[in-house]
Amino acid sequence: MPTVTFSHTGATLEVEPGGSFLTACEDSDAPADFGCQSGACGVCTLVVEQGAGNLIPGTEEELEVASQFSSEATARLGCQVVVNGDITVRPA
Ligand code: FES
Repeated sequence: MPTVTFSHTGATLEVEPGGSFLTACEDSDAPADFGCQSGACGVCTLVVEQGAGNLIPGTEEELEVASQFSSEATARLGCQVVVNGDITVRPA
């Protein structure tokens, strides 16, 4: 199963292939914060440090919100991310 590594804590989390990052975090003690859970508030903005290509590409709307919270090109909204392979992330 794909592994999510949180670089700021060293914590790891396994996600079903094609699974929701949000759901996996809710089912564990993952060091990730969420607000609206619908892609609007930006609280969950992440910077994908490794494996950005292992995520389903973000929609224009998702990337627009994420860009308001991080200038990093690999910024994504954790509540919208679908994981297909290993990634390393940190909060924005
Ligand atoms: S939790 Fe609000 S945008 Fe993700």
